[in-house]
Amino acid sequence: MTASSHDPGQIALPEIALLQAHAARLQTLALRDLLGDDPDRSAHLSLDAGPIHADFARQRIDSAVLRDLEAWAMHCGFERSRDDLFSGRIVNPTERRPALHTVLRGVGGDPDLAAAVALERRRMAELANRLRSGALPGFRGRPISTLVCIGIGGSDLGPRLVCDALTSEGDFDVRFVANVDPDDLERELRGLDAATTAFAVISKTFTTRETLANAAAARAWLLAGGCPQTSLAGQFIGITAAPEAARRWGISDALMLTFWEGVGGRYSLWSSVGFGVAVACSVEAFDALLDGAALVDRHFRDAPLAENLPARIGLISVWNRSFLGLSSQAVVPYAERLRLLPAWLQQLVMESNGNSAAIAGGTVALKTSPVIWGTSGTNAQHSYFQQLHQGPDIVPVDFIVARRSRANALGADDDRHRILVANCLAQSAALAIGKTSDDPHRFFPGNRPSSMLIIPQLDAQALGALLACYEHATFTAAVVLGINPFDQFGVELGKVLAGEVESLLAGGAGSGLDATTHALANRLR
Ligand code: F6P
Repeated sequence: MTASSHDPGQIALPEIALLQAHAARLQTLALRDLLGDDPDRSAHLSLDAGPIHADFARQRIDSAVLRDLEAWAMHCGFERSRDDLFSGRIVNPTERRPALHTVLRGVGGDPDLAAAVALERRRMAELANRLRSGALPGFRGRPISTLVCIGIGGSDLGPRLVCDALTSEGDFDVRFVANVDPDDLERELRGLDAATTAFAVISKTFTTRETLANAAAARAWLLAGGCPQTSLAGQFIGITAAPEAARRWGISDALMLTFWEGVGGRYSLWSSVGFGVAVACSVEAFDALLDGAALVDRHFRDAPLAENLPARIGLISVWNRSFLGLSSQAVVPYAERLRLLPAWLQQLVMESNGNSAAIAGGTVALKTSPVIWGTSGTNAQHSYFQQLHQGPDIVPVDFIVARRSRANALGADDDRHRILVANCLAQSAALAIGKTSDDPHRFFPGNRPSSMLIIPQLDAQALGALLACYEHATFTAAVVLGINPFDQFGVELGKVLAGEVESLLAGGAGSGLDATTHALANRLR
């Protein structure tokens, strides 16, 4: 690490050196021994926040590591940064914006903003209830019965995840389209009647190429399905922080829901971006989601660092990535309803912390975000767990499991939830403890870290709490790394080039593009 290039390194070099020394020490200690030496390790290394219980006993940490991670966080101004977040001060300096996601959950912010949030929430609830009760007619006067949400990234992943996690048979039909690949919209529209289908175009900026192209295709589909030009606006709901742009596109004020510039795209589920959740699952479920998140907000705001669950998750992620050198992190929910959680987390963590520019200038010398990936268990066990147990790289895992199943389809004789839980616990133990054998094929090295996150049941409140927990963990990691988790300049270059390639494919000169792009475009034209 070069002292000149890393802000936390400059202000907290002794803490970093101490943590590097701990990392060297921990490399020589086996989790098997740490766990065996202390039967109370789980009790010492567990924390609770709202409905979440998290056990970090199987992480490669000890009390000295935690103490010095926390000291480092304090040195990096954790408490001041946390205050700034909740008080609505600028925490996104490159874009001169606050981060208002907790205000959407009723925690922090000023009273004027809170009142504006409440007003917009009421408008959203009214519209959702009109749809749910069949009081929003389509162009032939019949009630709208399907809502197709068009958006991408933060304007898609959160509501899609929550709907997938919480909807049940008989709920209002809400579908999601993100990909500009025509197959995505085509598949979701298959079998639908234009006269009873409405679209929600969700885009913070209302400039995103993919979303606007899909929205235009939806408009064409409605026209082809018999919708008169003059009735089009009645089939489109717009959700945006740029109402002028949405109006220009054709969204009517009556069907426009807004949110604020200071709500980051990947933190926007809690705004009217979550409209699809209120329509599919109910306004009450959306409120419960926010309540769960607010429980964790208050915990994160008020709990001291040593008892602060999201902060602990964030610090351990930095410990694994930046000190133990583990470059990826798997998230494996043992809950099919959470199968989309890894995709949401990928954007949250990697778009937030996947950068190396220090807020204070220069580059961060520590490694920043891990690669986040994962799928639901137990399916994952029959896919890539082989490599997690015996592969060359150590991948820390976040296991997530619910005490009770939502669907107890077959009553007391149904042992599938027990099988699910048993596998989750067994995998975590096997990764940590391993198995000795003289036969290298049957040898399990163990010492592979994981956290266990337990919720009582997968309901809206627990889900809100879980998501907020990861949001604050991501924020904490950014604070100690000295980076801005609320901008995403890394997505810009590709977007600009895509515009140029698009004109090249349409017959333009593509003069600014390189020879390989020209060759590939020729092949694809
Ligand atoms: O490309 C990244 C991004 O800007 C995300 O941050 C955002 O969630 C997504 O695109 C969609 O943006 P918008 O909501 O403005 O359409």
